[in-house]
Amino acid sequence: MSVTVIGIGADGWEGLPPASRHEIESCEVLMGSTRQLDLVPAAGPDRPVERVAWPSPLVPALPGLLERHEGRRVAVLASGDPMCHGIGSTLVRLLGAARVRVVPHPSSVSLACARLGWALNDVEVVSLVGKPAALVVPHLHPGRRVLVLGGDPREVAALAPDARLTVLEQLGGPGERVHHSLDDADPLHVLAVECGADGASLTPGRPDEEFEHDGQLTKREVRAVTLALLAPRPGELLWDVGAGAGSIAVEWCRTHPSCRAVAVERNPERAARIGRNATALGVPGIEVVVGSSPDVLDLEAPDAVFIGGGLTAEGVVERCWDAVKPSGRLVANAVTLESEAVLTRWHGRLGGDLTRIEVSRATAIGGFTGWRPQMPVTTWAVTKENA
Ligand SMILES: C[S@@+](CC[C@H](N)C(=O)[O-])C[C@H]1O[C@@H](n2cnc3c(N)ncnc32)[C@H](O)[C@@H]1O
Repeated sequence: MSVTVIGIGADGWEGLPPASRHEIESCEVLMGSTRQLDLVPAAGPDRPVERVAWPSPLVPALPGLLERHEGRRVAVLASGDPMCHGIGSTLVRLLGAARVRVVPHPSSVSLACARLGWALNDVEVVSLVGKPAALVVPHLHPGRRVLVLGGDPREVAALAPDARLTVLEQLGGPGERVHHSLDDADPLHVLAVECGADGASLTPGRPDEEFEHDGQLTKREVRAVTLALLAPRPGELLWDVGAGAGSIAVEWCRTHPSCRAVAVERNPERAARIGRNATALGVPGIEVVVGSSPDVLDLEAPDAVFIGGGLTAEGVVERCWDAVKPSGRLVANAVTLESEAVLTRWHGRLGGDLTRIEVSRATAIGGFTGWRPQMPVTTWAVTKENA
């Protein structure tokens, strides 16, 4: 099965170059959203074209839909550039690049940059199509520019109160409008965000107060060291086992939009708190698994594992070590003698580095200031290839 994906703009048939028109005119089956299909004139009676409007939800229905039309010339309509947050990328994931031919059109991102005079290479692009608005949070940095696809401009405004927002509707079409009113934006809009002075750093070690917690929180200094040892890279998956407030998973995901994390926590109240922290800090995609380790650790193989709780439970370290991918990292923190004994045993078996972190914070003592020591934390970090 192979398909041709043709980008079409808000100016519809009029705006299509001859090559794109030819693809559409010579297909046997034309697929797309109802809005996109309506932009294309009906085929003549001599050469009927079957039109298939996307069902909802689309992605799970796609394999069956394509199978039904196996052996026919299938053309798929996509808005703008099919490979920019579009159906083209979904089809390539499904069929492989060799079976998807893409005829692009300018994307809404290119058109928005053209209207605003923004360099495309200087903007961040975030799609909120079918996703929570919180995803925009890690992209908000002083003076930066962000283009948001989909979503409700009012929700973005609430998250970026000091930003200047511009709504760009129906780009490239006869109904194009560029304005600053956030109410009743056309569904086909891009929101341009010019950040003000707000926006937190993405370097791990956020202040403890930024997390909702009940005391079960890896504190700022230890968290920064732990993240450095976990060494997140774009696209990697973390298991945060015994996640507590979820701060390790949250900071892992904030390092890059493609990083993912599963937070495993047996206490349902804490699990709910992890979800709230993830949303508040702009990484709502963290998967929270409620249950006891190792029973619930039958999950996608991780690139790194952090064990912050449950070290003394039978089989937790074994399961995590077995699951981590080759060249993956395992980092475990212990504060009790019993869990430290587990780490010492595993260090003897697998090697790696044992480090003791002792942090004291200066606090008020009467009218003076003194060091208040935090509980020492023993960290064991090991990489699979070194074991
Ligand atoms: C799933 S994304 C697809 C993006 C598309 N592939 C592209 O290249 O522009 C859909 C979102 O793109 C934006 N969009 C697409 N065409 C647009 C247009 N002509 N004017 C404004 N926004 C547009 C809207 O934010 C819409 O919700």
